[in-house]
Amino acid sequence: MIKIAPSILSADFARLGAEVDSVRAGGADWLHFDVMDGIFVPNISVGVPVLKSLRKYTDMFLDVHLMIDRPGRYVSAFSEAGADLICIHLEADTEESIHAALREIRRLGRKAGLALKPATPWDAALPYLEEADMILVMTVEPGFGGQKFMADILPKLGRLRDCAEGLGISCLLEVDGGVNPMTAALAAAAGAEVLVAGSDVFGAPDRAARIRELRGDRT
Ligand code: DX5
Ligand code: ZN
Repeated sequence: MIKIAPSILSADFARLGAEVDSVRAGGADWLHFDVMDGIFVPNISVGVPVLKSLRKYTDMFLDVHLMIDRPGRYVSAFSEAGADLICIHLEADTEESIHAALREIRRLGRKAGLALKPATPWDAALPYLEEADMILVMTVEPGFGGQKFMADILPKLGRLRDCAEGLGISCLLEVDGGVNPMTAALAAAAGAEVLVAGSDVFGAPDRAARIRELRGDRT
C-alpha cells in the first residue's frame, strides 16, 4: 500500500497543530518535514525547534528531509528533536561525509534516507544503497512547494528498485515534488512507495478525499 506523506511546507504554520490533525484524520501515513538552509537551496524553512514541538504534539512518523549543506553537522540535533527518518542529499557533501552521516543516522536509531536532485543520476546512489533505508527521488528542484512534476525522472525508480533487489537490499522509494492525483498514479506505477504531497493536500478542500485519491483508492 502506498504511503502518503503530506509536506507541512504548505501548511499554515500559525495553526500547525490543527493542520497536522487534519491530515492525520484524513488518513496520512507520515508527515514530511522540509528543512531548508538558504545555502543548499535558495529558501529557508523550519528547523529543530519546530520539529521538537511537533514531536511533542503528535506520534505520527516524522520524515525529515534535510535540504541543507553538509547535513552531517545536524543529524544528531534532528534525531534528538524526534525525527523518525532523516533524509540527507547526496549532493550536499563529499562522498565520505555522506557515508559517515548515513551511518550516524542509523547509529542514533533513526531510519536513514538519501535524496537525489533531478539532475543526479540514479547510479550515483549505488555506493550508499546498503546504508540507506529509503531513497528519495526528487521530481522538482528542491527549494519550493507548488512546482511542476518532472515525469522524465521516473525511470530512476525502476533502476534503483532493480539494483536494490539484485543486491538483496530492501529500501523504500519515495517521490517528492509536484505530486497530485495524476502524477501520483505515474509515480506509483513507476515503483514509488511513499508519495510526498504539499500544496496538493493542504490546498484541497477535502483533505481526506484527496489523500485517498493520491493513494489510488477511489472508493
Ligand atoms: C521541495 C520539498 C517538497 C515540497 C513539495 O523542495 O522538498 O517536499 O514541499 O511540495 P509540492 O507537493 O507542493 O510540490
Ligand atoms: Zn521534501
